[in-house]
Amino acid sequence: SHPPRVLSCIQPTGDLHLGNYLGALRNWVNGQHGCDAFHGVVDLHALTVTEQPGVVGDATLRTAAMLFAVGLDPEVATVFAQSHVPEHSQLAWVMQCQISFGELSRMTQFKDKSAKREGSFVSAGLFTYPTLQAADILLYDTNEVPVGDDQRQHIEITRDAAIRFNHRFGDTLVIPEAVTPAAGARVMSLQDPTSKMSKSDESGAGCIYLVDESAAIMKKFKRAVTDSETGPDSVRFDRENKPGVSNLLEINAAVTGRTPQQVAEGLDMYGKLKVETGEAVVAAIEPIRERYNELMGDPGELARLLRVGAEKARHVASATVERVHDAIGM
Ligand code: ADP
Ligand code: NA
Repeated sequence: SHPPRVLSCIQPTGDLHLGNYLGALRNWVNGQHGCDAFHGVVDLHALTVTEQPGVVGDATLRTAAMLFAVGLDPEVATVFAQSHVPEHSQLAWVMQCQISFGELSRMTQFKDKSAKREGSFVSAGLFTYPTLQAADILLYDTNEVPVGDDQRQHIEITRDAAIRFNHRFGDTLVIPEAVTPAAGARVMSLQDPTSKMSKSDESGAGCIYLVDESAAIMKKFKRAVTDSETGPDSVRFDRENKPGVSNLLEINAAVTGRTPQQVAEGLDMYGKLKVETGEAVVAAIEPIRERYNELMGDPGELARLLRVGAEKARHVASATVERVHDAIGM
């Protein structure tokens, strides 16, 4: 039997950070040999909130370069830009016709996102984007979609749409399963350790970007927020009462392959914890940044890698669209 086909996509935000790496990307790299991995940089989704030229294309290239830099192997995984595979748009229309207005109206993410954009342009695409996401998944006969709780509703609507299509037109689409992603570290902001490290951190001081220079990384770690406890037992893992220290311990553990408790054992000063964690992160990120810079400096090679991915993706996608059109009878 074939290994399961697994699809994980990423929005082309450009600036991937340590949280993305330790929470998601590293698992994709480790998982690529055990499954038939498809990874799309979903630039069509970014269009739902894009109003300026150049931005999406640039972010797509940077995001794709980072996926290769962290270790996704273009010979092993299928890494592609969504807009390079026109079948996404083709199947999206078909899926729009399998999902009702009422179902889309119940999507909590649309309610959140449109509320945030109140007073500015709320595109119809923002409303229908679960139908494009359904197409993304169904196009590849995907077996498994690793998603967090915030995306479960979108996988449900995808399954319902596929079941409805199969009922109407005959057995055509593979029904995907939502699966819990391999456990990754949950990385908190270095400045506010009670909230997730995120690209929406405005100052950037709490966020380690994968493109950050080593000196900048060390500086951010040295300024990491901890607490005012002192004494030989002050370096210990306690998420609840010591979120800053625990975050540093967990980051250190994640990049050195230890447990937070093991990291804590050898340390009794916050200064040392910060420096050692910064150094461990620098050691982990430096080779990634070097590969990234190499690829960004060689646009021809990056374009070639994305062409290889798009060809592999289209091979599957075009067969699915043909099957769908045949089933409908068009
Ligand atoms: P951001 O929060 O910066 O907007 P995204 O929402 O685009 O990041 O997340 C992309 C992937 O990275 C998701 O799989 C998400 O779970 C993971 N991720 C994002 N931030 C973190 C974090 N701080 N710790 C662990 N994983 C994270
Ligand atoms: Na997200």
